[in-house]
Parts: sequence; structure tokens; C-alpha cells
Amino acid sequence: MKLIVGNLKMNLLSSKDREKYIAEFKKETKDLKLSENRIILCVPAIHLEGFTKKLHIRDIAIGGQNIFWEDEGSYTGEISAKMLKGMEAEYAIIGHSERRKYFGETSGDANLKIKAAFRNKLTPIYCVGETLEEKNGGNAEEAVIRQVSEAFIGLSESQARAVIVAYEPIWSVGSDKIPTSDEILQMKILIKKTFAKLYNADIAEKISLLYGGSVKAEFVQQVCLKPGLDGVLVGRESLVPKDFVKIVKAIQN
Ligand code: PGA
Repeated sequence: MKLIVGNLKMNLLSSKDREKYIAEFKKETKDLKLSENRIILCVPAIHLEGFTKKLHIRDIAIGGQNIFWEDEGSYTGEISAKMLKGMEAEYAIIGHSERRKYFGETSGDANLKIKAAFRNKLTPIYCVGETLEEKNGGNAEEAVIRQVSEAFIGLSESQARAVIVAYEPIWSVGSDKIPTSDEILQMKILIKKTFAKLYNADIAEKISLLYGGSVKAEFVQQVCLKPGLDGVLVGRESLVPKDFVKIVKAIQN
């Protein structure tokens, strides 16, 4: 099964834009046979209800883009996993590079958030990836191993198995630069080895691994199919349903 995750980020601000998007999304996905695959659309928390009511259909699941690690209480401005679950979200992106960059989120924070997601029966989509400096300095592998190891502290085998890991090189997110299939394959091997060390070979084999960063339909072969990953995490191209569905089709065919 392949997972195709769209991350709308902070877009589609007007209700008119969202209605148009949902109508187009439904039209574009109408004839898709998704039995083998799954589309997950991660929308702004404030728009969750509208999306779950209108688009939570067939094999299209809805997720959030971030959660707080506590379930409820005096945490001004935060949104909990429990709140997302209450709006019928099924997934939550955790540790996205934009959260790390603009809000100083760490892999330790992600660890707490992954636990909060499980407490509330949400599936976490955990993002890891190196910066350009780390890549150029030959420290990419070390950075990714650290991000994985810190975020999985205290998680059981069955929890680890259920986390979806998205390898998103930070230099690729929003940049139109993508790694080669070989570079992605090397990262896949490294991430699997890390899970084999933290858990065992079985978990390493079963963990779902996505690629994210400037994904377009024409790159799907290079970034997902050739290196044998389980799907993609799509930012900008998910903002136009037609382009997003092109990616889904490229994965299916
Ligand atoms: P992008 O974003 O596809 O626009 O590069 C990917 C992401 O941030 O997940």
C-alpha cells in the first residue's frame, strides 16, 4: 500500500477557496481506485471540521499539521491531539521542518507529541531530514539518526511500527531541488538500520517510509518508486487537486 499525503500548510484561507478546492478534489478523485493506496490530506486545524465533513469520504483521510503534547488545559493557543481526534482527524504531521525552523521544535518535543498522538488514536507522520549545511558538511546521516532516535524514546514496538516516517531533506522542501534515487535509497537504508538497532529487523522492515520535498508527478519515479519507499508527502503540489491527483496516478501506475 502506498500513502500519498498532502500538506496544505497555511493556505486556502477563504471559504470560497476551500469550497472550490473540495469540489475539484472530489471531481478529480471520483474515478480513482484507491483500494491499494491511501490519500491523507493534512489541513489547517481551524479548517479541520469543514474538511472532515465534506471530504472525509471513501479512502481519503484527514489529518492535522501539528499537535501539542498535552491533551487539554491552560495552554493558550495550542491544539491537542484530542481536539483533532474530536474532529475526526486520523493523522497528524509531527516535527515538520517548518515547525523546527520557525518554532524551535526539537525531536524531544516530537517524542512527546508522538506519544500524545497514540494516546488519542491518531497516526503520527514524523518528519526527519538534514539541512543543507549538514548535507554539505557530511553530517546528514548523523542528523537523521539523532532525529529518529530521540523521537522514539519510550515507544513500544507496536507504536514504532505504526509511526509513518517521512524523510524530508530540509534543503528540498519548498526549493524545487530533489535528491537522486540513490541518495534517497541510502537514507532509507540508514533509517531502517536505525530502527533495527532501536527495535529489531522486523520493525525496520515494516516501518512505513515516505519521501517529502518538492514532489511533483514527474519526480515520483525518482523519489519514491525507484528507491522503494511507501509513499510521498506533498506540499505545494497538493494545493491544486489536479496536480495532486497526477501524483496519485503516477504512483498507482
Ligand atoms: P513542498 O513541501 O512539496 O512544497 O516542497 C513539502 C513539505 O513541506 O512537506
